[in-house]
Order: sequence, then C-alpha cells, then structure tokens
Amino acid sequence: MKAKKDSIVSLFQPKSVAIVGASSQPGKIGFSITRNIIQGGFKGKIYPINPKGGAILGVNCYPSISDVKDEIDVATICVPAKFAFDAVKECADKGVKHVQIITSGFSEVGEVELEHKIVEYANSKGTRVLGPNIFGVYSASGNYNSTFSATDILRGNVAILTQSGALGIAMIGKTAVENMGLSAIVSLGNKADIDEADCLDFVMRDQETKVILMYIEGVKDGERFIEAVREATKLKPIVVLKSGRSKRGAMAAASHTGSLAGSDEIFDAIARQTGLLRAESLQEAFNWCKFLAYSPRPKGKNTVIVTNGGGIGVMATDACEKYGVELYDDQLVLKEVFGPATPDFGSTKNPVDITGGAKAADYDLALTAPTRSEDMHATLALYCETATFDAENLAPMIRDTYGKHLASGKPVAYAIVGGKVVEDAVVQLRKMNVPVFPEVYEAVSCMGALYKYTNMLVERDDSVDDAQIDIATINKIIDGALADGRTFLLANEGQAVMKASGVMIPGAGIGKSIDECVRFAEQIGYPVVMKVVSRDILHKSDAGGVALDILNKQEVMDAYEAIMKNCRAYKEDAVIDGIEVCEMVQKGVELIIGARRDPQLGPIVMCGLGGIYVEVMKDVAFRAASMNKKEARSMLSEIRSYPLLLGVRGEEQKDIDIVVDTIIKVATIIRKIPRITDIEINPVVVYEQGKGLKAVDVRIIISKS
Ligand code: ACO
Repeated sequence: MKAKKDSIVSLFQPKSVAIVGASSQPGKIGFSITRNIIQGGFKGKIYPINPKGGAILGVNCYPSISDVKDEIDVATICVPAKFAFDAVKECADKGVKHVQIITSGFSEVGEVELEHKIVEYANSKGTRVLGPNIFGVYSASGNYNSTFSATDILRGNVAILTQSGALGIAMIGKTAVENMGLSAIVSLGNKADIDEADCLDFVMRDQETKVILMYIEGVKDGERFIEAVREATKLKPIVVLKSGRSKRGAMAAASHTGSLAGSDEIFDAIARQTGLLRAESLQEAFNWCKFLAYSPRPKGKNTVIVTNGGGIGVMATDACEKYGVELYDDQLVLKEVFGPATPDFGSTKNPVDITGGAKAADYDLALTAPTRSEDMHATLALYCETATFDAENLAPMIRDTYGKHLASGKPVAYAIVGGKVVEDAVVQLRKMNVPVFPEVYEAVSCMGALYKYTNMLVERDDSVDDAQIDIATINKIIDGALADGRTFLLANEGQAVMKASGVMIPGAGIGKSIDECVRFAEQIGYPVVMKVVSRDILHKSDAGGVALDILNKQEVMDAYEAIMKNCRAYKEDAVIDGIEVCEMVQKGVELIIGARRDPQLGPIVMCGLGGIYVEVMKDVAFRAASMNKKEARSMLSEIRSYPLLLGVRGEEQKDIDIVVDTIIKVATIIRKIPRITDIEINPVVVYEQGKGLKAVDVRIIISKS
C-alpha cells in the first residue's frame, strides 16, 4: 500500500519532523541537518532522535521515534547503512508519512537487495521513501531546510530536482554567487521510491516556483516521467541537465547513482516532444533558469538586435539561427523606429548598428525604441567596449533600458564585451538579476530558450492518436509463439500482426505442398518470391531457402523442390512448416519503422531511412509512443532523407499520409501489447501518393511477462 500521491506536499511542507541520527557533534551530518531545520526558521515540531538523549541547540532529543507521541510527516534518516533498515522499520511502524534516507551505501554500491527491502517494508505501511544517498530537502514555502548544506539557501523562484547530491550542494553554493534564489531543492539520489514525477507534482503547483531545474542521470519509470513532465511543462518551464551522453559518462552514471543512462538520442527526442529545455552545461542551465524566471514572455516572434559593433552583430545573427530566434525584417518599420537613434553611417537593418561612437544616451534612445513599437517583441542588446563610451553610464543605461523592457512586457538580453569595467558591470548587474552576459551566445541562447518555451505552449498538442488494431488476434499469435518456446515471431507471424493492425503488407500465403504454393502464386499474381518457413533456419538465403522473381506455375514447382532439397541438405532435422509464397515487392523508397519498450523511457517509436544501410546512415528519429499524427509527421520530417519522400528531381511525392498512419499503428501496438518488446519493419517500401506502402520484412520480439 503506497501513500497517496497528493501527500507529497507534506514532504516539502511538513508540520512535524524527526531526525533519526541527530547528533550534537558539529561536523556530523546528523548535526548539520538538525541545525539547518532549527535555524532555518521551521515553524513545525522538531524531534531529534538519539539513543543517548540530551539536547541539540536547545531542542530535546528522544531516545527512539516510538517515544514520540505526535504524528510525524518526515523522518530524516542519518544513521549508518547497517542500521538503516531498522530505523526505517520503526518509522514505518509508527506511521511516518515520509522517510528521507541521507545514508549512502545502497544500490549505488551494489547493495540493491537492502534498498529494495527498505522500500518494500516502508511502502507496505504507507510510508514513502526519498533517497537513499541524498542531501535532503529545502522548501521556501515550508520554511524548511532539512539539507546538510553548509551555506544558507537563498530564497527565490527556481526549484531544483537533482539526482546527484554533491552537484546539488554545489548548485546551492552557485545559486548564492549567481543570486538565483531557490523555491525548493530536493535531492533524489537513488530514487528507490520517490522520483522526479512525484516531486514535479509538488513544484509545478508550488506558488513560489516559477522555473524548475532538473539534473538527471537516468530515468526509472519512463512512462510516468513523460506524463509528469508533460503536465508540468504546461504550467512552468523545466530546464533539464541530462548527463551520461557519452558511453563513458553513462558508465560513470551507473556507478554513481545506480542509473542506466539510456540512449541519449531517445532522451533528447523525448525532451523536445514533452517541452523540456535541455541545457548543455550547468552555466547554461543557470542562465536559462534566471532568464525564464525574470523575463516576460514575448508576444510575437520579431526580435531586434541593437549593437555598436558590426562583428558582434554578425555573431549574434549566427547565434539567433542556432537557437531559433527569428529576426525582424521589415526594413521600412526598422528605419522608422531606429532612424532617430542611428547616425547616417550606421544601419537600421537588423542588426541595428548605432556604431562605435554611440554613447549611453544613444543606447538609451535605441533601446527604448523597440519597447514602444508594436511590431517588435524582443531585444538583444550588444555592446563592445569603446574608448569614446562614457563607461560610468554603462550599468545605469542597462538598468534603465531593462526596466523599460519589463514595463512594456518585452524580454531583453544584453551581451557586453570588454575589459575590467565591462566585466565588473556584468557581475554587478547579474547580482541585480539583470540578464547581462559577457558572451553573445549566452545572451542569445537565453532568448532561444524563452522562445522555445513560449512557442511550445502555443504549438503543443498532447492528444494521442490510437489506431484500430485487433488485440485479441495479436495476443493469440504471441500465445502460440510462447507455447512454442520462442521469444520472437516467425516472419509469417510478424506479417499476421501487421495484418491485424491494418498495416499494408505484401500478399502472401504459406503452402504445405506444391499445389498449395501454386494456388497462392496464382492468387497473388506473378512475379512472386518463395521462402522457407522454419524456426530452425534463421538465415534463409544461406540455406538456399529463398527463390526470387518466379514468373509462372512451372517455376513455382521447380522452386518448391529446390528449396526443400537445399534446406534438408543445410539442416537435416529442420522442422519445415511450409514455403511462403509472397508478392515480389516493386521498388520504392525504403524506410524503417520500429518500436521498442525502452527499459528506462518506456514505449518508443522510431522511423528512418531503411534498407541495408540503416546502421551506416543512422538517419533515424525517435519519439515516445504516446503521440498523435502531427508528431509522427514531425518525426518523419526530421530525418535527413525526408526529401526522398517529398520527391526529388521531378519525382512524384510519396505516400507520406500512409507512412504517418503506419507509424501510429506501430506506436499503438507497442503501447497496447505489453508482451511485444521490439518491432522492426525494414524495409517499408513506400510508393507514390495514393499508392501506399508495403511492410516487407517484420521482426517482432516478445516476452513472457
Ligand atoms: N537511532 C538514532 N540515532 C542513532 C541510531 C539509531 N538507531 N544509531 C546510531 N545513532 C546515532 C549515533 O549514536 C550518532 O550520534 P552521536 O553523534 O551522538 O554519537 C548518530 O546517530 C550518527 O551515527 P554515526 O554512527 O556517528 O554515523 P555518522 O554520522 O558517522 O554517519 C551517515 C552516518 C552520515 C548517514 C553515513 O553513514 C553516511 O551515509 N554518509 C554519507 C552520506 C552522504 O554522502 N549522502 C549522500 C549525500 S549527497 C552527496 O553526495 C553529498
């Protein structure tokens, strides 16, 4: 019996807390946590637990949690791993709602059993477990700091969910330097029970949280994660740092928090699908969080660049293309708006160049102009240090023009480049939470993140398209294969699954005699292909079990005999179920469509350029399988070979609608038939518009459970 999901609030806003392993010895984690709760202004009841009794900072200790008469919302466990089970058991028996286990030494070092045992016992009593291997929870709205952070936590609007404890503590330090206040921070550690999905449920509703930052090494329950992220990104931007991109990084993550990093390409695709903003580095993540927390959302896509230097303007233009920031292009309006602020030898084209002679007053004029224009929605303000600029007015000019942008509800980001005066101004202004950066790309990437989030809110469509598939028939095919001791379907069974799902397949039939094969060939129409059907012969061509381009009855009869003879010679005792007679598929564009049940991210769909070069070309795109046709079309359009479907050199466009339908069918199969773990259709031969496709080769892997 797990506690109800909505009780997660009491993990962040408890009314009563216990610290099991509270210590009066400064330097011990059990002391730091008790001190932070007491001195952090927590308004609820605090129960330090220590068998020796005594008091910590004036708060009396209890010898055991059973001695506490009150109900406890959260018990922090900071006793060594070998005592952890007993400590958690006592808490669970008492009915504590949450235990947060600070202690290390569980699945991250291979002690998986002990971790399972703790969670299983706790959950059986309705107690949820945070951690183990964590540094605790801070929540501004709960006036609650149960971390062992050495520094005070600055109050603000960013909530951090982090899988890594050490990085989380370092982030707390960095938030102070960056003046980025936190509304919450929670360390998830090994995620033995409570994970991102649970915590998102709290922070997405928390009034003090404007932006969420997640550091993730691996996801454990992908379907829940995707669902929670989809809900949360509708309400607040989520910036995500996902490590384990490289092979070695993934191995490091596995030994750090016991996580499998999973495929980075798949995570990346799902991040885009669910509206997550994936940052490359910690600095980028912090920049985005601050910018998203303080900037108004743009009401349109027209951005202007104002600069005093051509070079920096060109760099910003490149950066805009990289980060998807669109530059306003109406030359007449640009001239009208920026003309009064631009000398004759400058340029009102976007980037607007007010030239190297510009003083603070000129910047003020030029940066005020877009705040008054209805046609302009966002500004990138660039400054290169010049000898003629009145440097003492740099910071005040930026503060003033930032204020004007805020007042007009328009975002602005500044990039200022130069020596010590400029660098000092960056530090000073950033402390005041003005979005100023010493690098053009940093400023533009923030604007890009803001646009990505804003556009996502407008464009997103989380509806799921389900295809009509005959689940009962497919399950019967799986039952048959499993009864046969197989965890894969034979080619004809794979085709039968496709047929039951309405996917277009080549005409085929399995003949057990020459006469039957001839009958099928005449029904399908010549030319046909003949293939041996045998679970004992996986590589049919090697066994001489395939005959192509069969044009008439006599050739069917000859091929039947030749295949039987070859296969008997290849493997004398092979069980031969018959010979499949198939339509000889005509040439078209060859795609691959597949799906798998990812151990971390759940049901995933992929499509790409098919045929024999799949591995070499790696031209594939992924999505979470809970998707609609619009998403399937966007996935298809992502592959580099997409122009082949549109038709090149005067070719007709291919039947893209049918490809989209087929992707949805495959997505439906993987979502609705849990025993299917992998589907690969390669090639899917696609013909001209209106002429459909043929799923030629279908491989399906199944599992018992
Ligand atoms: N109930 C209550 N108190 C108990 C119990 C119990 N069953 N058993 C022991 N205690 C008391 C001890 O007597 C001691 O109190 P004292 O100081 O008055 O003697 C206190 O609990 C702590 O026990 P210690 O044996 O002194 O343990 P210590 O503090 O050295 O270590 C800890 C405990 C911190 C949990 C350690 O085992 C550990 O796991 N450290 C790593 C924690 C960590 O790094 N977590 C990840 C964070 S994220 C990151 O990477 C930064």
